[in-house]
Parts: sequence; C-alpha cells; structure tokens
Amino acid sequence: MTYFVTGGAGFIGSHLVDALLARGADVVAYDNFNDYYDPARKRRNIAAALTHPRFTLVEGDIRDRSALDAAFARYQPQYIAHLGAMAGPRYSVAHPFLYEEVNVRATMHILDLARLHAVKGIIVASTSSVYGALPTPWDESQSADQPLSPYAATKRAAELLAYTYHYQYGVPTRVLRFFTVYGPRGRPDMTPSLFVDNMRVGKPITLFNGGVGVYRDWTYVADIIAGIVAALHTDVPFGTYNLGNSSPIELIAFVRLLEQITGYTAIIDTKPLPAADPPRTYANISRAQAQLGFHPQTPLEVGLAAFWKWYRNEYDS
Ligand SMILES: NC(=O)c1ccc[n+]([C@@H]2O[C@H](COP(=O)([O-])OP(=O)(O)OC[C@H]3O[C@@H](n4cnc5c(N)ncnc54)[C@H](O)[C@@H]3O)[C@@H](O)[C@H]2O)c1
Repeated sequence: MTYFVTGGAGFIGSHLVDALLARGADVVAYDNFNDYYDPARKRRNIAAALTHPRFTLVEGDIRDRSALDAAFARYQPQYIAHLGAMAGPRYSVAHPFLYEEVNVRATMHILDLARLHAVKGIIVASTSSVYGALPTPWDESQSADQPLSPYAATKRAAELLAYTYHYQYGVPTRVLRFFTVYGPRGRPDMTPSLFVDNMRVGKPITLFNGGVGVYRDWTYVADIIAGIVAALHTDVPFGTYNLGNSSPIELIAFVRLLEQITGYTAIIDTKPLPAADPPRTYANISRAQAQLGFHPQTPLEVGLAAFWKWYRNEYDS
C-alpha cells in the first residue's frame, strides 16, 4: 500500500510518515518546504525517513497541478493524508489570499486526484478553529459557520469541498479537526516553543488575559497520529471527527507546568486575547471514540516532558 502525505515534512506530517513506515507501508511525502518557518527544521523532521527504502520525498507545491499529476501517475497511492497547509491562524489575518490558494484551491486538487485515482481513503486535516467562539465543549453537530480567522474560514471551506467530493464522486473521505497539537517537532510559531524560547533567555512571554480564563485542549502528537491512521482505514464513507484530548487546561496552569518541567521561570507580559483566538477550546470526542476507537493516551505532563526532551536536543546541539 502506498500512502501520499501532503505536508509530509511538517510537524504532524513527519510523525505520520514515521508511523506509516513503521507499519510497513510505502510512503510518499509531498512538501514544498516553504519558509513560513525554517525549512531546515522540516529537513531534520524527515532525516530518518530519508534513509528508509520505502520512503520517497517529492519536493513540490500542492498548488502546482501538473507536479501533483506527475507524482500521482508515478506513485499511484491508495491512501492520501492531506496535511499540507498554511497552518498558523494569526499569520492568516495579514495573508488571507495565500491561505485561500493553499488551503482551499490546492485542497481541491488533492480531492480531485483522490477521485481520479479512486483512492481507498483520504483524510483532510482540519482544525478546532472552525468552531470559532461557539460555546464549549465542541461537537461535530455544531454549526461551525462563524470562523474567526481566514485560516479557520479556509479550513471550513476545505471541509465543505471534501463533503461535496464525497457526495458527488464517492470519494471515501474523513475530515479531522485537530485540537492544539504539541510534542516533539512542534511548530516554532506555537505556544510551547514560543514560551520556552523566551523562558530560557529570561525574556517575557506574552500571556493573553494573563493566562486566566483562556483554556486549550492540548493533544499529544502521537495520539493525533493514532487517530489519523484509524481514520484512513475506517469503513465509514464520510465522517467529520474531533481529534482532541477532551481535557482543557487554563493557560496559566500550562505555564506553571512548563516551568516545573523545564526548570525556568516565566516572566509574564499580559496582553488582550487576539480577535482570531477563541477563549476556550474543548473537544467532545465521543464520535471519534465510537467510530474510530480514538482514545488519547498521553497526559499533558508526559507529553510536555517529551517535547522538552526534543527541544533541548534540537536547540542545544
Ligand atoms: N499543529 C496543530 O496544532 C494543528 C491544529 C489544527 C490543525 N492543524 C492542521 O494540521 C496540518 C499540519 O499542521 P502542522 O502543525 O504539522 O503544520 P506544519 O506547518 O508543520 O506542516 C505543514 C506542512 O505543509 C507544507 N506546505 C505548506 N504549503 C504547502 C504547499 N503549497 N505545497 C506543499 N506543501 C506545503 C509545509 O512546508 C509544512 O511542512 C495542517 O493542515 C494544519 O492546518 C494543525
């Protein structure tokens, strides 16, 4: 079986690549190594995979249909994990058209190729951000029609297209809404890295509302990968699933835990919550539990310790 992983050199994508290789699959990662963050980081993410005989890296842009056509013709994948995207919500506020190109139009190319190549399954990465500021806990039956950022809106648009491709062309599709994923290889623009970057050099960290009343449902990357693998192989013809930890923690408590794990002390600079950020994220995961057997295993203290171990190695070597 051949798996095509878009964004395969990124944070979540590279973990999926490793997991699929470990399961005995052939894996093609397709990534354009853009410089939203240091592309050298992405190269390191897939350094081990590159030594694997069942791994192929294709450097290409998902907006480039002819490059995608050539890769599909050559590798004939049976499964697609579509993780490639512009992934930062705040950056999207200043770059909405880029997000539309990458997260909407290019997603259509991937869906179209899934149709043309009659793949056995495709997962489309979405986000808890689609819920905007709806009351929590969030479940998949909520309307999700008031996204707070261009990022969230483009992901929601991709979800709708995924449904239409399933409905019209029978593409077996699962939309996965990830909740604040963290762990080794975590993106440098996300909270754990941003905080530790500053804490280790005695710089203040920006804490929205002083971290009070702001909750995030941190989900460890290995748990997300287990959910993706299950969703790729389920028989459900179309489904939308929350993949979260279902255990939100207040941001100030998160900082205290990070201090405990790293041994650094945070200097806190309080700012108002940006308009693109919801005050609370909280996944109801009963659908994913029932239909995918999704049961997140990793407590925050265990996952953050793994993140910290990786971070030290990454930055101090
Ligand atoms: N990390 C999270 O907490 C989180 C939460 C919700 C949803 N997601 C979604 O999960 C997916 C993976 O996110 P991540 O955190 O690993 O981000 P990431 O930025 O580390 O990975 C995305 C990868 O896609 C690649 N990419 C971007 N544009 C591309 C293009 N035009 N052509 C080819 N490749 C391109 C990037 O180079 C990168 O390697 C994204 O779809 C993101 O929206 C992530």
